[in-house]
Amino acid sequence: MQYKILPVEKIEKIRTNYIQLTIKEEEWASQCSPGNFFQIKAVIDSQNRRLFKPISIYKVEENYISFLIKVIGEGTRALASLKSGDKLKIYGPLGNSFPLVQDSNILLVSGGTGYPPLAYLKSKLDSSNNILFLDGGASKDDIFPCDYAYTIDGSFGIQGMVTKDIAEFVKKKSFDCVYSCGPISMLKTLAQIVNPIPHYVSMEAYMACGLGVCYGCVIPTKEGYKRVCYDGPIFEAETILWAEL
Ligand SMILES: Cc1cc2nc3c(=O)[nH]c(=O)nc-3n(C[C@H](O)[C@H](O)[C@H](O)COP(=O)(O)OP(=O)(O)OC[C@H]3O[C@@H](n4cnc5c(N)ncnc54)[C@H](O)[C@@H]3O)c2cc1C
Ligand code: FES
Repeated sequence: MQYKILPVEKIEKIRTNYIQLTIKEEEWASQCSPGNFFQIKAVIDSQNRRLFKPISIYKVEENYISFLIKVIGEGTRALASLKSGDKLKIYGPLGNSFPLVQDSNILLVSGGTGYPPLAYLKSKLDSSNNILFLDGGASKDDIFPCDYAYTIDGSFGIQGMVTKDIAEFVKKKSFDCVYSCGPISMLKTLAQIVNPIPHYVSMEAYMACGLGVCYGCVIPTKEGYKRVCYDGPIFEAETILWAEL
């Protein structure tokens, strides 16, 4: 897949360390599904040696695709330094997508940078679904609109991990389906708590090509090693060998 060089349509700093970046690309916007991601990098001289960064789709509105990005290192800092009209190298949409259900009781659980794909998924789930959305992060800057928020430092919502009350919710709500995205430790804990409810996880991994070529992003599953970028990033939780991660 060939990357395109596109201008940044809009870029906003929405928290101390988060930006929302929007591009306009009609054909790609029509191909996006929740769970897909793009490989992105800023076109600036000092960036030329760096890898593309995998970033999930956050919103798709008509021909516009938006990303919610936490600034944590060099690559995301370079993206955050861009202004409207500056150029990006970008390719996608990549990976598989979350299966969509109807008439169901659904639990969404995100942690940290796991929020964007679940927010996009929520916008696509049929309105007949009954959805409970839990979001967790280190502190209040990591929290975005949801039903219940959890922060490690207690600066917003309930103090503790996002998985803290899930066993209680599971007892009360009889969920038909769980979707999650976040750090491996969170996904692992969640998978144990919600088992045997069908559970789809979006896995994070270090990526290089993002196209299934380099095998730099593999995870162990019951069917052997799978590439997060190409076979995923969405997997059924029961297929992953969590103890080996
Ligand atoms: C499929 C997928 C979708 C993603 N979607 C989003 C998104 O929507 N929004 C968003 O903000 N981020 C998302 N990420 C994470 C994002 O790709 C990384 O934060 C980014 O690549 C960091 O690049 P950097 O150069 O700024 O930092 P680096 O210099 O590469 O890393 C800075 C620090 O973060 C750690 N780190 C970097 N990448 C990862 C990773 N994948 N897993 C665990 N630790 C890591 C490094 O160990 C280091 O300590 C996604 C990742 C994947 C695999
Ligand atoms: S990043 Fe190259 S195979 Fe996944």
